[in-house]
Amino acid sequence: MRTIQFFDTSLRDGEQTPGVNFNTREKVQIALQLEKWGVDAIEAGFPIASPGDFEAVKSIAAVLTKATVVGLARCQRQDIDRAYEALKEAVHPQIHVFLATSPIHMKDKLKMTPEEVLASIKEHVTYAATLFEKVQFSPEDATRTERAFLLEAVQTAIDAGATIINVPDTVGYSNPTQYGELFAYLISHIKSEKEIIFSSHCHDDLGMATANALAAIENGANRVEGSVNGIGERAGNTALEEVAVALHIRKDFYEANSAIQLQETKRTSDLVARLSGINVPKNKAVIGGNAYAHESGIHQDGVLKNPETYEIITPQLVGVQTNSLPLGKLSGRHAFATKMEALGYQLEGEHLAQLFKSFKQLADKKKQVSDEDLMALVVDDIRQE
Ligand code: KIV
Ligand code: ZN
Repeated sequence: MRTIQFFDTSLRDGEQTPGVNFNTREKVQIALQLEKWGVDAIEAGFPIASPGDFEAVKSIAAVLTKATVVGLARCQRQDIDRAYEALKEAVHPQIHVFLATSPIHMKDKLKMTPEEVLASIKEHVTYAATLFEKVQFSPEDATRTERAFLLEAVQTAIDAGATIINVPDTVGYSNPTQYGELFAYLISHIKSEKEIIFSSHCHDDLGMATANALAAIENGANRVEGSVNGIGERAGNTALEEVAVALHIRKDFYEANSAIQLQETKRTSDLVARLSGINVPKNKAVIGGNAYAHESGIHQDGVLKNPETYEIITPQLVGVQTNSLPLGKLSGRHAFATKMEALGYQLEGEHLAQLFKSFKQLADKKKQVSDEDLMALVVDDIRQE
C-alpha cells in the first residue's frame, strides 16, 4: 500500500477564485484546520504578490509544526528571496518555483525562446536550492507542452536541485488516459540519483480534475495537489476531499492511502466555504448537502433496510452526522411511515394508507414536504374524524 501525500493549495490557487480574498487571520485559521485534517503540505500563498500575502505566509510558517509550508515563486530571484524571507521560520519550509513550458505560453505570454526557458529553470532552481532543502518545480501548462521539451525542462529542474516535480494541467485540458500516460512517461524517462516526488495538479475546466488526479496516482504520482471544495481559478482545482475519499473507498483498486483524517472533512469544507464565501453545491460529491440524502421511494426503502444498498460512503466517515430521507412526490410508504414515527405518530393499516394518500396529493404540489406539513396532515385527519 503506497501513501499518497496531499498538498493543499486552497490558500494560493484556491484564493485565485474570483471574489475570494482571505486575510491573515482567516488563512491561519484554515491552515490550522488543514493540518488537523492531515495534509502533508500547505501552499500558504505567493509571498511576492502582496504585503498581505507575505504576512500570511510568514504567520502560517510560525504556527504550523507538522505540515510543510510552501510559498510560490516565479523564476525570478526577487520572488525566491521573498519566499525565503516569509518561510525562514517554518519548521518544514518548501519553495514552489514555476515557469511555463507550452509553446503558447512561451511565445505569447513569456516572450521567451525554449532555450531561454531552460536556462531560466536552471538558474532559478539552482538558486532556490541554495536556500531551501525542498524545492518543487512546476512546468506551467505541462499538458499542452511538447513532450520531449517537457522532459527536458523537468530533467533540467532535477539536475538543478528540484526533488519535487509537479505536472500542472493548468487549463484543465487533459483527460485521465493522457494525463496518466504523461506521468508514466516522465517517471520512466527522468534520470536522478535522488528520489523524486511526482505530483499532480489539475484544473476542472472539463470536469475531469479529480479523475485526472487519480489517473496520475495510478501511474506513479505520489503527491496530489488540490484545494478544499475544489475552489480555484475558473472551474477550480481538484477537490482534495474527493481524492481522499476515493482512495479510501476504492483502496481495493488504487492500493494507496493518505494521512487525511477523513472525519475532519466536513468541518474543513464548512470552514473553507464560510471564509471563502463560496458555497458548496448541493450535489457536490462527498460534502454536498445532498450527498447523503435519498428521496425516491425505492432508494429510501433500500436505505432503511440496509444503507449500503445506496450509500458507498457512510456520512459519519467524513464527519456528517447522519444521512437523510427528504420526503417528496417520489418518496414511498416506508420512508413516510418511518418519518411519521420519528415525529411521534405510529401509523398502521387503513390510517397509514389514508394519510399516505393525502401526503402524495400534497407532495405533488410542493418540491419538498416539511415536518410541519406532515404534522398539519395529521391535524387535518384528526379534525375530519
Ligand atoms: O495551474 C497551474 O499551472 C499553477 C501553477 C502555478 C503550478 O497553479
Ligand atoms: Zn493551478
